[in-house]
Formats: sequence, structure tokens, C-alpha cells
Amino acid sequence: MVLRHEFEPRILGFLCNWCCYAGADLAGVSRYQYPPNIRIIRVMCSGRVDPAFILRAFSNGSDGVFVGGCWLGECHYITRGNHEALSLMHLCKKLLERIGINPERLRLEWVSASEGIRFSQIITDFTRQLKELGPLGAGEGGNKNGLKLSLEAATSLVPYIKLVESKRLRAHLRTEEEYEEFFSSDEVGRLFNELIADKLAIRQILLLLRERPLSTGEIAESTGLKRSEVSRYLDISARRGLIRFDESQMRFAPA
Ligand code: FES
Repeated sequence: MVLRHEFEPRILGFLCNWCCYAGADLAGVSRYQYPPNIRIIRVMCSGRVDPAFILRAFSNGSDGVFVGGCWLGECHYITRGNHEALSLMHLCKKLLERIGINPERLRLEWVSASEGIRFSQIITDFTRQLKELGPLGAGEGGNKNGLKLSLEAATSLVPYIKLVESKRLRAHLRTEEEYEEFFSSDEVGRLFNELIADKLAIRQILLLLRERPLSTGEIAESTGLKRSEVSRYLDISARRGLIRFDESQMRFAPA
């Protein structure tokens, strides 16, 4: 008889010290059961969770990332860190989707210090959801090297993305629904494509070419981009002097 081991997702959790971490602590003290798949890092506020932390967690093998903060309106800092976290999580999900990672692998929730049971329910549900999605990479087409390079490209863009978020996408909203509506609007989609997506694709291509010279078709296959998009990005990169066409190999290579 062949024994099949059920996939156990690895989850990295960033919990705000004042609410969600205390809620997790209460879950433990109260002996509420939840799967042991999460490893916790305590942060002072959910707004402290840099998108680079999330991308690094995925690069290092996490199948899911959880961010837990105080309910909106209850952040302990006047900078409203959880609003900032919400805004960045929306952008992070767009970024993940763009590089071929299911955005459902990133989850942001609010849990107060008295909601131990809510914490245990959320982690149970998130673990179940990740089990359905499967290991990171397998559920995303299985191109592990491509995924690693895409994560590296996205991580290198984080300082720029935070700048774009603070200058062009910072909205002073009140509710989660308002944030949802704002980030799914056509205007934000257009700005995301214009300001972030193109830069991300060019970074992905440059990282791929760093490994070996490639043709347009090979780049399209590795990145999941259309050939026409790859041609456009190659053209931009060549005009900027970032790449050159190696005629002896009939492939593109770094300049
Ligand atoms: Fe908890 Fe800001 S202090 S989210």
C-alpha cells in the first residue's frame, strides 16, 4: 500500500503586537485548536510589513503569507499603519498576480486582542485554502526557476513601488470596501500597468538574460508574457542600451 502524505503548507505570519499577536496568544492560552502550519513574526504594527518581507517569504519557500493587524480605526499609531498595510496588500496582490502567483496566497485580516477564536478560525481556513492551492510553484505552472526570477525582479522594484504608492496611489479611505473599489478601478489598473508592470517585465527579462542569451520565444515561454509584449520590452531595453542582439547566436544578451 502506498502511503500518501497530505501536503502541509508553510505559512509565514506577520502579526501586529497590540492586537493580532495578543489574539494569537489568547488562542493558545484558551486552547483553541488551529493547524500548526504557521510560523509567527511579531511586528509592532501591520503597517511595518514591507512588501519585500512578503516577496522574500515566498522566495524562501512559504506557500502562504498572513498579515494580521488591528481593526481599521483601532491602529495604535497616529499614522494609521493598518490603512497603509491595506493599501500595500492590494498592490502586493496585483504584483503577485502579475508574476504568476495566486494572490490568494497572501491574506490580510484584522484580529483584536480578545478574538482568540477568530484567529484560530482564520488560520484554520487559510491552511485549508492553501492545501487546495497546493505548494507554491506547483499550483502556478511548475516553472520554479521562472518563479524565483520573477520574485527577485519584483523584490528589486519594492522601493520604487512604495514611492509610487505614496505619491500616486495613496488614498485616504475609511472602509475595506472603499479600498477594494479603489484598487479594482480602471484608473488604478491603468496606473499600475503604466508605472509598475512595464518596469517589472523589463526586470524579469534582464534577470533571465543574465543566465543565458535567449530568443523572443524563449523569453515569452519563461515569463508567460505574449511574444508581442516581449518584443516591445526588448525594443525598449535595446534602446536604453540594456541589451543587445547577439547575431552569432541569434539571441538577445545583456549589453
Ligand atoms: Fe496594530 Fe497598527 S498597531 S495595526
